[in-house]
Parts: sequence; C-alpha cells; structure tokens
Amino acid sequence: MNNKVKTAVFPVAGLGTRFLPATKAAPKEMLPVVDKPLIQYAVEEAYAAGIRHMVFVTGRNKRAIEDHFDTAYELENELEQAGKQALLDLVRSVQPEDMLCSYVRQPRALGLGHAVLCAEHLTEGAPFAVLLADDLMIGPTGGQPVLAQMVNTFERLGNSVIAVQEVPQEHVRRYGIVAGTADGERLLKVRQIVEKPAPEQAPSRMAVAGRYVLTPAVFEQIRRQPRGAGGEIQLTDGIAGLLASEAVHAYQYQGKRYDCGSKEGFLEATVELALAHPEVGQHFRDYLRALMV
Ligand code: UTP
Repeated sequence: MNNKVKTAVFPVAGLGTRFLPATKAAPKEMLPVVDKPLIQYAVEEAYAAGIRHMVFVTGRNKRAIEDHFDTAYELENELEQAGKQALLDLVRSVQPEDMLCSYVRQPRALGLGHAVLCAEHLTEGAPFAVLLADDLMIGPTGGQPVLAQMVNTFERLGNSVIAVQEVPQEHVRRYGIVAGTADGERLLKVRQIVEKPAPEQAPSRMAVAGRYVLTPAVFEQIRRQPRGAGGEIQLTDGIAGLLASEAVHAYQYQGKRYDCGSKEGFLEATVELALAHPEVGQHFRDYLRALMV
C-alpha cells in the first residue's frame, strides 16, 4: 500500500447541540475563533500536512461551509475595484489553487463512524486523514502542526495513527479511550479502544483527540459493526475492529487542543488566540489587564 496521505475527511454533519442556539441555523464549524472559522483552521492544518484533497461530510444547514471554500465572486470583484489588495489576497488564500474540495452529504446524523463511511468513495482506496474541526489544534511554537506530525508518523509506520492526550479521570466518559504498550517516542501500540467508558471501567486516561490517519480497511469494519455508545455508529468501534488484523498506534501529539465543541473550550481558544494575534493581541492584552484591576 502507498503510504502517501492525500485526502482529508472533515465530518461536519453533527448537530452541535452543545452550542445551541448559535447552531440552530448556522454550522458549528463556521464559528469564528478571533477572525477565522473553526473549519478553516482544520483545513489549513491538513494543507500544511501536504494534503490537497479536502472532503467535507456535510448535512442540513451546512451550506455556509461550501460557500466559504468557494470563490466569492462579488466580494472579490468589489475588493479589486476598491484596490483593497491585502483583503483580496486574504479572501483568496482561503482556497489555494492546488486545493480540491469535495462534498458529500450524510443524510442523517447517525454518528461519526457513519459520517466517515459516507466519504469512502472519495478516498480512492488509499490511507486518509480525519479531522474534527471542533477540536482546534495548535502545534508547538516553531514546531510542526499536529496533523503533519501524524502524517509523518503514519508514513514511517504504515499503519493507522490516532492522536491522543491524557485527560483527568472524571473526563474519560467524554472520549474514546485507548490502552496499549509503549512503542517508541510518544507512541503506544493500541491493545484496546473503547468509546466513552464510565470512569471505573476506563482502561486508561489516554483520550482520543480529533485527528486520525487511517487505512482504508477501517471502512469495512464500520460497515459491519452494530451501533455503539449513544446508539451511534462510532468511529472508535471501527478502529477497535481493525485491531484484529492490523496494528494501530496512538500518538501523543505535541501541541495544544481546544475543545471548541464546548463553550468553555471555545472561550479558552478565543482568549489565547486573541492574545497571540498579530493585529489585536496587544490591545486585547491591555484590555484584559485593565479588567483585572
Ligand atoms: P460531536 O460528538 O461533537 O457531535 O461530533 P455534534 O453533533 O457535532 O455536537 P454536540 O455533541 O451535539 O454538541 C464530533 C464530530 O463528528 C461530526 C461532528 O460534526 C463533529 O465534527 N459528526 C458527528 C458528524 O459529522 N456526523 C454525525 O452523525 C455525528
């Protein structure tokens, strides 16, 4: 099998109930952190990992995502006429010329595994990445973005790689949890993976974050499996099915994850990225200082 990862799948068909009413008519993935929607951070991360084909698994109310990655003809024309070159470049940079976007609908929100399965025919039987845009990942200062770290690891090992981080015991029920044996720097060879276990049944505190590089064999596993936690078709169960026939590694990524599917995580990301923002960072820092006194 060719180890080159050329396609990224972005499941964006979830209902975003934790963010209602904001997500009643607008996609959660279009919520901006400072000045960029969540989905754009994820697409830029995939692009930085050398991936050029972006596949969005969309649902109802997700049209804004397609529009965001399409040419904004009237806007571009207006900016051009007004000589606003910097803004024009900014708008055009959302969709680099060598990036291909494909869209497929998930007809019902049956779960993350089902969403990924909807993209099967667009992955050409090759390894692919999955990025959950509501997990906003910021790579270490001066280091590689998280997905690039994972793609490198995948290309070296040749088997599926999932991003993990340690979480407090009381949070394990929110995540897929993996257990395994150390197998190199930042790597665990996965022995077990379970979705949203009760804290007393969790095999570890190593939680899956929203980045995966998977072999195409996972599709057959998802197709075969029954519904899992929450009555949904879970990606975690598909990966668990892979373990019988293939090695899977969990990779403790370098960088920081913000759970922007939750209000707290979204606010943390907004504050930290605003402080680091070249345009507004200094003003925002002064503003926060003034608030504190
Ligand atoms: P979440 O568990 O965050 O679900 O899904 P959600 O529906 O988006 O949000 P809440 O929990 O109701 O607030 C994780 C990722 O999987 C996608 C979501 O869009 C999100 O990126 N997903 C989930 C799908 O694409 N389809 C599904 O059926 C379920």
